[in-house]
Amino acid sequence: MKTYRIAAVPGDGVGPEVIPAGLTVMERAAGQSGFSIVTTTFEWGAGYYKKHGQFMPKDGLEILGKFDAVYFGAVGLPDVDDTLPAKDYTFKVRTGFMQYVNYRPVRTWPGVARPLRTEKPIDFVVIRENVEGEFVQAGKQILPDDVGGLAIDTSIFTRRGIERIAHYAFQLARKRRKRLHHVTKSNTLIYSLTFWDRVIREVAAHYPDVEHQQMYIDNAAASFVLRPEIFDVVLTTNLFGDILSDLGGALMGSLGLAGSGNINPEREHPSMFEPIHGSAPDIAGRGIANPYGTIWSGALMLEHLGELQAARQIMKAMDKATAEGMLPADLGGKATTGEIARRVAENLDIV
Ligand code: NAI
Ligand code: MG
Repeated sequence: MKTYRIAAVPGDGVGPEVIPAGLTVMERAAGQSGFSIVTTTFEWGAGYYKKHGQFMPKDGLEILGKFDAVYFGAVGLPDVDDTLPAKDYTFKVRTGFMQYVNYRPVRTWPGVARPLRTEKPIDFVVIRENVEGEFVQAGKQILPDDVGGLAIDTSIFTRRGIERIAHYAFQLARKRRKRLHHVTKSNTLIYSLTFWDRVIREVAAHYPDVEHQQMYIDNAAASFVLRPEIFDVVLTTNLFGDILSDLGGALMGSLGLAGSGNINPEREHPSMFEPIHGSAPDIAGRGIANPYGTIWSGALMLEHLGELQAARQIMKAMDKATAEGMLPADLGGKATTGEIARRVAENLDIV
């Protein structure tokens, strides 16, 4: 039987609540489709940092590198310096494993009330550049706070970095509805983002069958709310993609619904799949966290591993669960994290 080795990193807060929910569903889906998943769990994150002074061991990447994929919850705790979770865990994995694609889909869910009035179906993917741009953390506080204060963060964009994310996004659009918006702000970030625009246009020339349009981030944010149905693939930079995809989560009804993949398309390293939300310390420990985004991330992981049938089954089983009213508190329901996981797993036998 085909076996996949998965590294689970539940992390902090609601992470250790939603990851087991996702694993319950994935294991049942695997059994049904005739493959198996062997999971090793690593208790890394801000909790680990409090005991060991780091978010993961020094050889953390080497350890994760031996797995077929990483299934990640979220990291960060209120009593730990919040500049550390991304720097010491998330960005380390994304950059170390060249997961330059952040794949963040947005869709409508049956039975879930959306904040928008439109009844038109929403179905698009935010493709966020994941290792360059505004989040490279190349910066410095040059003057301390007590002598006036002066700090800089530098964005870094390379031709190679822009080309590879653009090719990925155009190829994805080809498999979808053949429409791509690339979102920048090159009218004001006149050096880096005009460069981004030029390189994207060069790449676009290789995909004449894909309808391609450039849009500024402010217009894109407004259009997400006013006419989200126009989007198919949204290609954008690291910071813009982070923000737009949370807005995408909100369009679905809750951040808790949104899943994602940090993908190394060349498959030289494992890819990492995670809900887009954080550790939600305000609701942690009560068993009420919404697990759908994490379960969806599991489906994206199975799709990446080539288990398309199992991934499709999970999507159908989730749709049936939400249609049946199996909704967590953030969607106005009463279902607990565990109840939702069990129902989705049971639905796999029916859908
Ligand atoms: P957050 O996403 O954790 O929470 C924002 C709001 O959404 C909260 O009201 C929370 O209760 C709600 N929410 C999030 N996930 C939910 C779920 N599954 N079910 C129901 N409600 C949910 O973002 P916030 O508050 O900005 O950050 C909290 C911590 O998480 C910080 O330490 C931050 O650094 C960290 N963080 C970690 C990320 C990661 O590990 N990839 C991503 C974003 C934030
Ligand atoms: Mg975010």
